[in-house]
Amino acid sequence: MGLLQEGINEVIATTWSNAAPMGIIHRGGEYRMVLFRGSHTAMNIERWGWVVANIVHDPVLFVRTAFSDLPDSAFVEEEVEGFLVHRLPGAEAWIAFDAAIEHRARESLAAILSPMKEVVVSPAVHPVNRGYNSIIEASVHGTRYLWNKDPGLRGLIDHHLALVRRCGGPKELEALALLEGYLGIRKEPQA
Ligand SMILES: Cc1cc2nc3c(=O)[nH]c(=O)nc-3n(C[C@H](O)[C@H](O)[C@H](O)COP(=O)(O)O)c2cc1C
Repeated sequence: MGLLQEGINEVIATTWSNAAPMGIIHRGGEYRMVLFRGSHTAMNIERWGWVVANIVHDPVLFVRTAFSDLPDSAFVEEEVEGFLVHRLPGAEAWIAFDAAIEHRARESLAAILSPMKEVVVSPAVHPVNRGYNSIIEASVHGTRYLWNKDPGLRGLIDHHLALVRRCGGPKELEALALLEGYLGIRKEPQA
């Protein structure tokens, strides 16, 4: 056990027939998630008591799962310590956690996670790409922007999308077009 690093690990969290990017906070030897109420992930964790952290390096999948749902055929079933869990087939590694709600606030839930099983499937080398990092940043801001249309967030999104255009490869550019579509901010090409 021990694939996740100290700090916040951005993974794609799967619960039953659902996937969404989520941060797993690893500090002082413990694992936690802070879940905004209203998400399927929060509801499923409260109901079923497990979550799988899929370690994925795919900008398109981050954007797609942040803003829409995957079909049931996108999940693989695994039995872990008596739980039937769902994970993503394309993950480089996955960790199944037992999850217990430790704190309920008005807008969020905090869950404490206990690793049950950790599997490395196909680790790959990922040279740092600022365009990739900026897709993740723009997606985080974008999930909030959809709620409140805050112009400050829009400025951050535009900043990160400019970096994606400058530094990204084809996968990042595909993710960018998808993200602009979800946010309704696609710019028409200049004549
Ligand atoms: C990189 C990234 C990290 C995120 N981390 C969290 C998080 O830690 N907690 C949370 O509640 N939402 C987080 N979000 C937002 C959720 O992914 C988003 O609200 C999503 O629509 C929830 O989907 P669901 O309803 O299928 O669970 C994050 C989004 C991104 C792009």
